[in-house]
Amino acid sequence: VSALNELLDLVLGKRELSGINKDFARQVLLRWLEDNPSVAVAYRSDPKRFTRKKEFQRLRSEVRKELRTVYGAFFKGQYPAKKKKAVAALIAADSEANAHNVLKLHRSTAERLNSYPFLYEQLLSPWGAVDSILDLGCGFNPFAYRYLAGRPAYFSADIACEDLDLINAYLESLGVRHEERCVDLTDVSAVASLPRAKVAFAFKLLDSLEDLQRDVTARLLDVIPADWLIVSFPTMSLGQTKPIGTRQWFEKLVTGKVLTRVTLPNEQFIIITLKQKESVTGSGQ
Ligand SMILES: C[S@@+](CC[C@H](N)C(=O)[O-])C[C@H]1O[C@@H](n2cnc3c(N)ncnc32)[C@H](O)[C@@H]1O
Repeated sequence: VSALNELLDLVLGKRELSGINKDFARQVLLRWLEDNPSVAVAYRSDPKRFTRKKEFQRLRSEVRKELRTVYGAFFKGQYPAKKKKAVAALIAADSEANAHNVLKLHRSTAERLNSYPFLYEQLLSPWGAVDSILDLGCGFNPFAYRYLAGRPAYFSADIACEDLDLINAYLESLGVRHEERCVDLTDVSAVASLPRAKVAFAFKLLDSLEDLQRDVTARLLDVIPADWLIVSFPTMSLGQTKPIGTRQWFEKLVTGKVLTRVTLPNEQFIIITLKQKESVTGSGQ
């Protein structure tokens, strides 16, 4: 195990990936070794010398690439120190300009920077204000807390442990009820034990979870501890190069459960009920 941990540290080496949940990264590494048995043999036969071999280079670049697609690619080349500094400034003075400086560091929140007031008003209008939110695969979205009405309790979950520490410090400074959990959201029982909320968010998350584990979304819909779920999908690929159409696999799962949809230029939001027997008809499509 310790040799594997050393290998993992070498793979994660770059600062950009250092804040990721280690158990999650270890699983990605083990899966890669399973898919590449000859490299696994080379590694197991001599772990010490393995890192000097060509196969190690390939392993490192491919595993990093995979980790970057679930995590790192969303940060615009920003390193931990820069994030910490921007968050410290926000904690020192909770102004909109300081919040923007933080939200700008992550692609997803940067994209909706100017839409937040409209977006949250639209998304949460069925309830007026909600008392609690569970943000799944939250990224930097909790830093948009100022745009929510009614000071809800805010629970955040992601595999980016260091980012969750920053979120913890920010929400603590606001004096609101909050909790952060660094978990792999393809782990269905871990999701089932997250704090319960009125509304859960899963913004730009499900494509990535499905890549990691096909059909996991269907199982998650049964256990997410909330009454309602707001899912979003990007309508353009990362880098805005090509449009991505409707996710038919998702539409099938939520037939009869869609309350409403909200569309931004690059993102579509779908509000669905999670209450088992309840079906919502009407404004779905
Ligand atoms: C595209 S970003 C979206 C961030 C945020 N929801 C937003 O829209 O602003 C995807 C987020 O999901 C997280 N994520 C991806 N796979 C995950 C997994 N298996 N478990 C937990 N979080 C995951 C990533 O770390 C990243 O923060």
